Amino acid sequence: MAEVAAAHEVPEAVRSGNLRAVLLGAPGSGKGTQAEFLAAALGVPAISTGAMLRDAVALGSALGSKVAGIMGSGALVDDGLMAEVIRDRLDRPDASRGFLLDGYPRTTGQAATLDEILEECRGKLDAVVLLEVPEAVLVQRAVARRRDDDREEVIRERLRVYREKTEPLVDHYERRSLLTRVDGEQAVADVAAAILRALGRRA
Ligand code: AP5
Repeated sequence: MAEVAAAHEVPEAVRSGNLRAVLLGAPGSGKGTQAEFLAAALGVPAISTGAMLRDAVALGSALGSKVAGIMGSGALVDDGLMAEVIRDRLDRPDASRGFLLDGYPRTTGQAATLDEILEECRGKLDAVVLLEVPEAVLVQRAVARRRDDDREEVIRERLRVYREKTEPLVDHYERRSLLTRVDGEQAVADVAAAILRALGRRA
């Protein structure tokens, strides 16, 4: 993280730790990698709903047993259950002054839930960054990683679900003038620098 901050100036406007931003992109586009990489530089927590659900499955919690099969098939967990998960997480003190969301929202219903949560605390979303990566590269990255849901047929299903349910959010946030597109095929540090520049322009 120090390398990122040193190599690429973190714009003053986003250094205050008040940023509320969403990383949007297909499975394997680098959302989790970038959220972890940038959260400390931005002074906000990286919140990954996928990681939270995987933790729940690993712990064998009630939530984990509800979502394990869904995740294994490449489908999405239903919006009602995800609303509880994200509401609980954003209620924690570390998220009160900002966050970098990875994997939420991924349906128009989830986007509406996020707006409701932010309205309740008189906050607003500052930026949405779309990581753009060609489909062939997404599949290569996921197959190379070998997570439980990284079998090729499950990856193809996750990509299909992304196109159907999540891609409409690109238009949704573009219409609200919140969206910036970033080339996610570059090296990790270059993607991080491009995201920081995009956030700096929007803060
Ligand atoms: P989730 O964990 O969110 O999976 P995903 O969106 O499919 O995303 P990935 O983790 O596969 O990719 P990523 O974009 O984070 O890329 P990463 O940084 O890991 O969700 C998993 C499941 O949980 C869903 O299928 C669903 O069932 C459920 N779920 C989660 N949230 C939900 C929600 N809101 N609603 C309903 N259901 C939900 O990188 C991928 C690989 O590429 C890594 O190996 C990485 O090292 C590599 N890489 C990253 N960047 C680069 C780069 N620039 N160059 C080269 N390699 C790179």
